[in-house]
Amino acid sequence: MTPPSDPKFLLRNVSAAYASKPVLRDVSLSFADRQISAILGPSGCGKSTLLRCLNRLNDRLPQFRLSGQVLLDGQDIYAPDADVIALRRRVGMVFQKPNPFPKSVFDNVAYGIRLHNLTNSASALADAVEASLTDAALWDEVKDRLDLPAQQLSGGQQQRLCIARALAINPEVILLDEPCASLDPRATARIEELLVALAARYCLILVTHSLAQAARVAAVTALLEEGAVIEVNNTSDFFTNPQHPKTQQYLSGG
Ligand SMILES: Nc1ncnc2c1ncn2[C@@H]1O[C@H](COP(=O)(O)OP(=O)(O)O)[C@@H](O)[C@H]1O
Ligand SMILES: [Mg+2]
Repeated sequence: MTPPSDPKFLLRNVSAAYASKPVLRDVSLSFADRQISAILGPSGCGKSTLLRCLNRLNDRLPQFRLSGQVLLDGQDIYAPDADVIALRRRVGMVFQKPNPFPKSVFDNVAYGIRLHNLTNSASALADAVEASLTDAALWDEVKDRLDLPAQQLSGGQQQRLCIARALAINPEVILLDEPCASLDPRATARIEELLVALAARYCLILVTHSLAQAARVAAVTALLEEGAVIEVNNTSDFFTNPQHPKTQQYLSGG
């Protein structure tokens, strides 16, 4: 398949290792804006490591090594003069287990807005919190209890709150690392519906071990095995006409 001509994220020959253990092997991939790209692969194949490379979450690990290039809008995010704080504002992340702060619903969403001084009045802050909760399809369920400790929400609501928290600082890309792994099918369906809606406005990169989830929501699907890209294609071709024997094996449950 031809890569998008103007990708949001472009990885060129990215290899990575924890100490002497190689985890990513010569990965070249591009992720287009305004769509969901899914990354599939067996446990331990390097999916989370790949996502973490996109907002430099591995930087603090002393043993971590990366080579190759990661370009966001054509700019190398690992360039010596690249600004990691600015990068993390542009590239938000949602983790496998919902991890709201031990604060109220309101303060979870307001946190980043306050940190980055994105509003200059209490009413503008309240408006921004409402807008993010609305975009995360959570507003109607929490509008009467914004003071509730976030931990008292259901798992699915907590995950949507984490998405609202990510949206609140106006990112361009959202990395999602198995965001439904701890949720029941109903909560999963709500998140999937939300991701499809958000794809109209953001570059979403979704790691999942669920074939069905990738098939339902992603425009493009990639398979990673042992740190290497096996196959990447638009999702319908990936599932109906896999080219690589390893993809065929993976899809048939082998
Ligand atoms: N912080 C780390 N230090 C050392 N090895 C790690 C670290 N994080 C992950 N790994 C190893 O890197 C490999 C890929 O892990 P990961 O990216 O988490 O895979 P996945 O998300 O596909 O399950 C695994 O073998 C894992 O044990
Ligand atoms: Mg993982």
